[in-house]
Amino acid sequence: MKPPGRIARVTRRGFRVVRGRVLLARGVRPASRTFGFERGQPIHRHYIDDFIRAHADRIQGRCVEFHDASYTRRFGGNRPDHVDVLDLDDSNPHATVVADLTKPHSLPPNTYDCIICVHVLHLVYDADAFTRALHELLAPGGTLLVAVPATAMVDPEWTEYRRWTALGITTLLEQFFDPSAVQVQTYGNSLAAAAEMRGLAADEIAPWELRATDEHFPVEVCAQAVKSDA
Ligand SMILES: C[S@@+](CC[C@H](N)C(=O)[O-])C[C@H]1O[C@@H](n2cnc3c(N)ncnc32)[C@H](O)[C@@H]1O
Repeated sequence: MKPPGRIARVTRRGFRVVRGRVLLARGVRPASRTFGFERGQPIHRHYIDDFIRAHADRIQGRCVEFHDASYTRRFGGNRPDHVDVLDLDDSNPHATVVADLTKPHSLPPNTYDCIICVHVLHLVYDADAFTRALHELLAPGGTLLVAVPATAMVDPEWTEYRRWTALGITTLLEQFFDPSAVQVQTYGNSLAAAAEMRGLAADEIAPWELRATDEHFPVEVCAQAVKSDA
């Protein structure tokens, strides 16, 4: 079947945005209780893609990602030469490494050139111990890419302890990484944050509404931290 033309796509998006605005305003029940996955791409996933795409050149050499290797595979191209999947849970069939990073020295130090840590830190109570382990696991010059929720519904499937602010992630990372090697950025604005909480998908708000950044209303906080060469 022929893919829809530009006019059909714009009309469909316009319709979804108008219907999304009604869902945003009406009633106390959200449009989705599962982040909008069943409606399309969740808003926070759109932002994580933007962040990982912008830092994709860092995904190279020996890489490790939590739970599955989806961001490494989608954005790493042919740069990774070894990919591990790290999980706390040994029943995960994708896991190649099982460890609890809050336990000291659970894995050999200086191992990875890139760690992709998406939506993990809000599940970890002892974030200091965990981040110390991430720093230890990185090879000198290696890069940590982090994404954490700032505004999001609570997922009962996971033990979620917190949401993060940009200041919280900056302070956490700067305990272990040289502050000049830490870059933190926020994604989202008040409308996108409201839409995320109501369970709308990314294409149920307008592209410019999705792109606008207002640091007072982050949906997602993302960071790159590079371990010193020394
Ligand atoms: C919600 S999943 C992340 C899934 C995926 N990265 C994503 O894009 O959302 C969280 C992962 O973090 C892992 N995790 C949580 N606490 C951990 C810990 N203390 N040590 C190692 N892994 C941990 C969990 O086992 C799980 O694989």
